[in-house]
Amino acid sequence: MTRPALREGLRFDPGRVPTPCYVVDAALLRRNAEILNAVRGRTGCRILLALKGFAMWSAFDHLRFALDGTCASSPHEARLGREEFGGEVHAFAAGMNEAHVREFAALADHIVFNSFRQFEKFRDIAREAAHEKGREVHFALRVNPEHSEGHTPIYDPCGPCSRLGIHRAEFAGKSLAGVTGLHFHTLCQHNADALKRTLEAFEARFGDLIGGLAYVNFGGGHHITRPDYDVELLCRLIEDFKARHGVQVYLEPGEAVALNAGFLVAEVMDVVTRGMPLAILDTAVPCHMPDVIEMPYRPEIIGAGAPGEKAHTYRLGGLSCLAGDVAGDYSFDEPLSPGDRLVFCDMAIYSMVKTNTFNGVNLPAICLLEPGEETPRVVKTFGYEDFKGRLS
Ligand SMILES: Cc1ncc(COP(=O)(O)O)c(C=O)c1O
Repeated sequence: MTRPALREGLRFDPGRVPTPCYVVDAALLRRNAEILNAVRGRTGCRILLALKGFAMWSAFDHLRFALDGTCASSPHEARLGREEFGGEVHAFAAGMNEAHVREFAALADHIVFNSFRQFEKFRDIAREAAHEKGREVHFALRVNPEHSEGHTPIYDPCGPCSRLGIHRAEFAGKSLAGVTGLHFHTLCQHNADALKRTLEAFEARFGDLIGGLAYVNFGGGHHITRPDYDVELLCRLIEDFKARHGVQVYLEPGEAVALNAGFLVAEVMDVVTRGMPLAILDTAVPCHMPDVIEMPYRPEIIGAGAPGEKAHTYRLGGLSCLAGDVAGDYSFDEPLSPGDRLVFCDMAIYSMVKTNTFNGVNLPAICLLEPGEETPRVVKTFGYEDFKGRLS
């Protein structure tokens, strides 16, 4: 049974999909893409999809018109970007070995290094490996502006002793010959005011190096498609930066591309009272929405309120053995019963890309709701072979 209250704001009936499943609404994806395309159109900047945040390649048709390509954190992501998205591929990893570099060189247009040691060791190997494939590869350096915008420490690349990005002091005595761009990534779910402060810190430290370069990549973490995001300020910052330095600007958002464009539908399997009413769902939080525990944060559920806000409060947990397999406490107008469907919001980003099969828990099906349609298409289901295939 699906309660009408659970359906508000949804373009599909959660009672008519397999559970657990991710449903990505392509109309919502396109709405985000239009916003990003407008930034691109106005400023002439280039925008890449950060595959680490959203890599549902069956939905890429809805994004390609708005984005210039992808950024990859590994050879596998670079290959997916090359095969399924097209356009430019930029690759960065905090550490690379020769095999990684050779794979990147065969797939990526730009390789971004995290240290002078890695750049100097691998630039010739990368250039030759690219030439062997009849391609050309460009090099950039990731820098650390040493300006922290203060958020969850594990998501702060400018925190104390961070391994991410070359410090200005490390440039002493180094040549930038062969370097095409600088890259920084310092933000996480931030508005444009944080970018403004970051750019001031970046230019104070690295401004004198930009002259001979082709581009600066402002990384990800720009929450551009959030309703309160200051798109006007972002555009001004990009336009002014380009005018000041005469270089191209790249952004590589992950979250902003698929923000609020997807859902995780789960079913209540059991309801028990142990100190308080508990509902056990056919999902597992550490497997299907690990950021809820890792970040941590409280996902929105359609039709549910804060504990005590509505008549019936439950702690919602998953089917795994982990005591902490808990999504949080939520209240509902009606008591929950086995068979009820719950719809977790904003589950397109950093969810599918982070799933795991701990406890042998099956992966959620992946569904795509096309614009103008009412029933999500099941794009992919998983089973025992996916679990077994990761082990030996
Ligand atoms: C180098 C780099 N680029 C882009 C991103 C995407 O960030 P977001 O999804 O917050 O926009 C990340 C996220 O960790 C990153 O590390």
